[in-house]
Amino acid sequence: MRAIAVSEYGATPALMNLPRPEPGPGEILVKLIAAGLNPLDWKIADGMLKDSVDAPFPLILGGDGAGVVDEVGEGVTRLGQGEQVYGSFRDVERGVGSFAEYAVVREDGPVARMPQGMIYTQAAAVPTASMAALGMVEAAQIDTGRTVLVVGATGGVGQGVVQLASRAGAKVIATARDDMAGTMRRLGADETVDHSAGDLNRQVLAVHSDGIDAVLDMVSDTRATEHIAQLLRPGGTYVTTTWSVNPDLMEAKGLRGVNFENEPSVEALDGLSDLIDAGALRVRVEREVPLADAADALAGNRIGGARGKTVLRI
Ligand SMILES: NC(=O)c1ccc[n+]([C@@H]2O[C@H](COP(=O)([O-])OP(=O)(O)OC[C@H]3O[C@@H](n4cnc5c(N)ncnc54)[C@H](OP(=O)(O)O)[C@@H]3O)[C@@H](O)[C@H]2O)c1
Repeated sequence: MRAIAVSEYGATPALMNLPRPEPGPGEILVKLIAAGLNPLDWKIADGMLKDSVDAPFPLILGGDGAGVVDEVGEGVTRLGQGEQVYGSFRDVERGVGSFAEYAVVREDGPVARMPQGMIYTQAAAVPTASMAALGMVEAAQIDTGRTVLVVGATGGVGQGVVQLASRAGAKVIATARDDMAGTMRRLGADETVDHSAGDLNRQVLAVHSDGIDAVLDMVSDTRATEHIAQLLRPGGTYVTTTWSVNPDLMEAKGLRGVNFENEPSVEALDGLSDLIDAGALRVRVEREVPLADAADALAGNRIGGARGKTVLRI
C-alpha cells in the first residue's frame, strides 16, 4: 500500500510502498480515504517520542483519518465491514498511522462512526484538534459571562475552542491577524486582538482594564505564558496545549494552571459527532492535497500561518 513514512527520526517524510496491515483478533482494518494533518505529525517525525517509544521503521506518519471498515478481526462486534468511520489511527509502537491506504485499530481504539452528512475529507479534519478543543474548554470550567482569551485561535484547535467557549457562554477574545478577524467573529469571538501588532497584554488591557478570567493557549512557550498570565484576575485559569504553564507557581498566586493532554476515545468522538450533527461545531478545511504531497504540507504547517485544517486525499 502507499504510505507516507520516515526511514528514521529526522528524515524527510517520503511516499513508500509498504505492506498492508492485517487485522488480528479484536482489530479493525480501515481503508482510509482522507487523513487530517496536525503539528504532532511533524513533531513525531522529528523524534519527539524517541526516548519514550521504541518505534519500528519505516514509521508511518499521521493520526487523524476517515474511511471505510474493510475487514474486522475475530470477535469484533462494535463496528462492521462497510461502515464509515473516523478517528485517531496513530500507533507509533506498531509503526501505524493514517497517512496510508490502510490502518488497523483495536476495537476499543479511538475510532467511531462518522458524523452524519460529513464527507471523508471533512471528517478526517476533526479528531485531534476538535477533541483537544473540547477538552480544553472542559478543563477551563468556563462559566457564563466569563471573559476568555484564546491564544492561537486561528488554528485547528483554536477555531474549535472559540466556538465551544462561546457556546459555553463566555465572552471570547480571539487572537487573529487582520485577514482572520472576520472569520473569528463569525465563529463566535466577541473581540479580536492581533498578535502580530504589538503586545497582547496591552491590547487586552486597553479594553479589559481589570483583567480577564481565563486564557486558553495553543502557542505560547513558558516565558510568553508567564507574561500573558498577568492578565488573569484572582481565581483565574490558564490552560495550555503546549505544556507551558507551571501549576504550582500558578497556585501560589491564587490561579489555576492546566497543561492539557488529549486522550482520544470513542466517547470523545461520539460527543464531537453530536456537536457537529447539531450544528454546534464547524471544522474549516483550509487545504486539501494528495497523499504524495504530504511532505510539503507538513513543512508548510511547521512554518505556521494555519487558517484551518489541512487534509490529505488518499
Ligand atoms: N497537548 C495536546 O494534547 C495537544 C492536542 C492538540 C494540539 N496540540 C498542540 O497545540 C498547538 C496548536 O495546534 P493546532 O493544530 O491548532 O495548530 P495549527 O493549526 O498549526 O495553528 C496554529 C495557529 O496559531 C497561530 N499563532 C502562531 N503564533 C501565534 C501567536 N504568537 N499568537 C497567537 N496565535 C499564533 C497561527 O497563525 P499565525 O502563524 O498566522 O500567527 C495558527 O493559526 C500545537 O503545538 C499542537 O502540537 C497539543
